Amino acid sequence: MAEIRDITEVDFTGKKVLLRVDFNVELDPEGDALERFKLEASKETVTKILSFPGVKVALLSHFGRPEGKRDEAYSLRPMQDDVARALGVPTKFVEDCIGDVVVSGLKSLVDGEVLLLENVRFYSGEESNDQTFAASLAAPFDIFVNEAFSVCHRNQASVTAITNILPSYAGMRLLEERDKLDEIRRSPMHPAIAIIGGAKIETKLPLIREFERTYDAVLVGGMVANEAIDQGISFSEKVLLPADFQDEDARLDIGPKTTAMFIEIVKRARTIVWNGPMGKFEEKPYDAGTNAIVHAMSESSAEIVVGGGESLTILERGNLIRKVGFVCTGGGAMLEYMSGKVLPGLAALEAAAKQRSVGFAARHLSKLL
Ligand code: 3PG
Repeated sequence: MAEIRDITEVDFTGKKVLLRVDFNVELDPEGDALERFKLEASKETVTKILSFPGVKVALLSHFGRPEGKRDEAYSLRPMQDDVARALGVPTKFVEDCIGDVVVSGLKSLVDGEVLLLENVRFYSGEESNDQTFAASLAAPFDIFVNEAFSVCHRNQASVTAITNILPSYAGMRLLEERDKLDEIRRSPMHPAIAIIGGAKIETKLPLIREFERTYDAVLVGGMVANEAIDQGISFSEKVLLPADFQDEDARLDIGPKTTAMFIEIVKRARTIVWNGPMGKFEEKPYDAGTNAIVHAMSESSAEIVVGGGESLTILERGNLIRKVGFVCTGGGAMLEYMSGKVLPGLAALEAAAKQRSVGFAARHLSKLL
């Protein structure tokens, strides 16, 4: 595994720190944040950095896909109180992520406060990974910390280009997610199974193929299963598609035969990776298959890793978020990483670490000569 520098080796005293987080969460109809777990994920890192005297911390996130322009529907301002509650620190908000307001916002912070910056995707330079935009993001800061594993699959300015400018480190949660995914990918305890549901066969197929190769069984439900059946995709006998549906015409949930079969396999597994619901879980009675599988997982002693926004929402609703194994904040990032792809955000942190050690070696050598 390539080296990434983590924050435990940094003295943050008096430093201005730009912390990339992922506050891209679903909102309920009242505008309150769901996926609170995702907001809480950076708490340990925030607390650790704030323990240094004189440090100033700004939180940088994207929210939705505003397509490179300011759009109040995607403002992070309404999230200010949710963030303060989730992190347990007073949080100020500024309506931009670059320029003078960031500089004065940082100055206004008293010890123990953090600054929430406006949505970084209000600028087109973010998604185009523009180096000049990254320089504007970096300008008020001394150090960059990436604490958002869930955006590491995006080659964007606040994830990759910025690491060319500021000394860059990984947050504690980012490394924990990477290490846990490495562990269950490389050395799972057998029988190892993956349960893959939700939508978009094109994004989930590489993962199904990977688990088909390395795990003992892949249980497929949800829209992904319907799409695989409709497209006539063929799999080895390790991949189990639904044998029946709750309603054979609508196919909105797996049927009782499939549910019973999947539960038996879950009971015997020693490693379980779960990503995506087995049916249209947000509409009763099509949540039955997913609920039954989640219940079986909650009673299992297997090593369980869960990822994907819908899976997080299901666990949160059932108050199971800390009871069903390790929960990964990443949906797309987890899918890509588990499929064996290189995540640009991780590669950027590795390159930054390498560059720094080359620089260190050169400085050391010049002293000796
Ligand atoms: C996620 O929610 O998976 C991440 O925040 C990435 O969001 P994106 O798919 O809009 O890049």
